[in-house]
Amino acid sequence: MKDRITIRPAEQKDWASIASIHAQCFSCIGQTKEDIIAVLKTESSAYFFIVAEMGKNVQGYAIASTGGRQAYFSWMGVLRSAEKRGIGSKLISEIEKWSSEKHCASITLDSRNRFKKAVRLYLSNEYDISGTWIGSDEELMIRMKKPLRK
Ligand SMILES: CC(C)(COP(=O)(O)OP(=O)(O)OC[C@H]1O[C@@H](n2cnc3c(N)ncnc32)[C@H](O)[C@@H]1OP(=O)(O)O)[C@@H](O)C(=O)NCCC(=O)NCCS
Repeated sequence: MKDRITIRPAEQKDWASIASIHAQCFSCIGQTKEDIIAVLKTESSAYFFIVAEMGKNVQGYAIASTGGRQAYFSWMGVLRSAEKRGIGSKLISEIEKWSSEKHCASITLDSRNRFKKAVRLYLSNEYDISGTWIGSDEELMIRMKKPLRK
């Protein structure tokens, strides 16, 4: 039987799991566990921190924030061992739902050419590429944007 994916708000007890996933996904761009813990410590109603559980374990997380009528999708990661089971898609849809509830007209994110699985997933979720540039580390950065339904 397939395990169900549950999405819920992140709690402090999840921080260690989130930090491990973050390090697994983003150490390639110099991110550390401490970096994401510092973000999680930001207490603001403008932030949205969620986790995805499958088989009672945290397998993925996503973070977004709002400013005015614009939402910004800052981070999303799924454990390598749990990929391709629909967790990323569910996290995206929950982030978009929250952003709509916050009256945001659109959601923006910055990804990288190297994160091909993510770029493919965003494109198949109706994100458009709205810009590209070479980042300070000489990597191709990709800005993506999606209008949100009211
Ligand atoms: C990008 C990322 C979050 C995707 O997470 P995921 O849980 O694998 O995402 P999903 O399972 O929803 O979708 C991934 C693919 O699996 C497919 N899929 C979903 N459920 C599936 C299933 N049950 N069986 C087979 N395939 C499935 C999806 O259609 C999608 O296909 P695509 O590659 O053609 O787009 C994950 O790969 C990751 O953490 N990558 C490293 C970090 C990263 O790049 N983060 C984003 C930075 S901007």
